[in-house]
Amino acid sequence: MKKLMIIAASLALTSLFAMAPANASETEKVYKFYCAQCHGLTGKGDGPNVTKDFPVSPRNFTAAKEMDKLSDADMKNVIMDGGPSASKSPMMPPWSKTLTAEQVDGLVKHIRVLCQCKGKQG
Ligand code: HEC
Repeated sequence: MKKLMIIAASLALTSLFAMAPANASETEKVYKFYCAQCHGLTGKGDGPNVTKDFPVSPRNFTAAKEMDKLSDADMKNVIMDGGPSASKSPMMPPWSKTLTAEQVDGLVKHIRVLCQCKGKQG
């Protein structure tokens, strides 16, 4: 019985991966490379770059309640134009010169997976 469950679980996992859009792994790479140093691989805001000298902690993407206050458009803006564009800390860099709009859309979706939240609508 236990064995069956494991097989069922791994089958479910495989089909999940198969269903993911083609660029999902690309997005993960982008996130790992550019964002995880500060925001952490799982989004807890505990990346290796973060030292106690940081005046503000990188946003914890797993804090669904906080993340729900941001719409997808809010997130996209702050990722493209940096913290100060949203009256946030300049410790959050702007990425519009580094990443394409499509890559940022992918990141917004990725962050929604990390927070397991839908965000403010509109
Ligand atoms: C050098 C460290 C650093 C890197 C790298 C970084 N961030 Fe941030 N980020 C921050 C900090 C610090 C904040 C919190 C700013 C504040 O609350 O004032 C933040 C906040 C955010 C927020 C929330 C903004 C808000 O309005 O609350 C989002 C979304 C975000 N970052 C996305 C990203 C994405 C996506 C990447 C990768 C492309 C990234 N960050 C890379 C440091 C970083």
